[in-house]
Amino acid sequence: MASVPANPNKALWEKGDFTRIADTMRESGEALVQRIGVSKGLKVLDLGCGDGTTAIPAAKAGADVTGVDIARNLVEAATKRAAAMGLKNITFREGDATHLQGIADQSFDLSVSIFGAMFAPKPFDVAKEMVRVTKPGGRVVMGNWIPNDPTLVAQILKVSSAYTPPPPEGFISPMTWGVEANVIERFGAAGIPADRISCVRDTFVFDYAGSPTAYVDEFRKYYGPTMNAFEAAEKNGRAADLKKELDELFTKHNTSKTATSIPATFLRITVNR
Ligand SMILES: C[S@@+](CC[C@H](N)C(=O)[O-])C[C@H]1O[C@@H](n2cnc3c(N)ncnc32)[C@H](O)[C@@H]1O
Repeated sequence: MASVPANPNKALWEKGDFTRIADTMRESGEALVQRIGVSKGLKVLDLGCGDGTTAIPAAKAGADVTGVDIARNLVEAATKRAAAMGLKNITFREGDATHLQGIADQSFDLSVSIFGAMFAPKPFDVAKEMVRVTKPGGRVVMGNWIPNDPTLVAQILKVSSAYTPPPPEGFISPMTWGVEANVIERFGAAGIPADRISCVRDTFVFDYAGSPTAYVDEFRKYYGPTMNAFEAAEKNGRAADLKKELDELFTKHNTSKTATSIPATFLRITVNR
């Protein structure tokens, strides 16, 4: 039997254990769910849901939630977390944001993706799928990191990219989702006029119960993209340089005197379907 070629997008996120990073994002996830207005009975899709940082608070608010993620380990972790909380109004399943197999047109009042679908290849397909599964009169909400932003996540990427080989030809950076003109073009191609799309800057805070340098070690051990950067750096004998640069970055952005608390700016997009 011919083997199915590996999906690098899936492999990246199944690598390590993103739940270790997600654990430092919970409070902002809950606050974001409140800000975007999730109410009882709303049918919500969380795309690229990870282990449920957004999906679980949405279910706690009474919404009827479906979480979809490409990483099998994260779908399992999300399912376990929701079960441990006794939530019955939430299900998780494996799926790809570029092709939401088995999800009917116009299924959801709110399709949300917080730092999730931005990582899928084929951004035009992602926009088309998010619009397709959302009901007319419903909303699509995305949270996307912003390229070249001075805050943490864009800077991690910038530092890491200097240690990793260039991406394959034709690769579209996930960070392009943080540029308003691209958002308008992608949702425009999915049939949404620009006056139905709004973009605002918002903040997510990463809270870790240790020092900034210990937090860098968590990224190094558990966060797929950073693991890859360190693997590439090790091959060139440059891992200590990468660690030093990231230690400096995390320390510079830390606002806590006793642990680690780092705010990061993102683009919050609302599409009125
Ligand atoms: C940075 S994590 C964010 C997870 C979660 N939304 C959160 O805020 O904690 C990115 C997530 O997107 C998922 N992802 C990446 N590419 C995807 C794709 N093509 N389809 C569905 N999920 C995807 C990853 O598996 C991962 O869980």
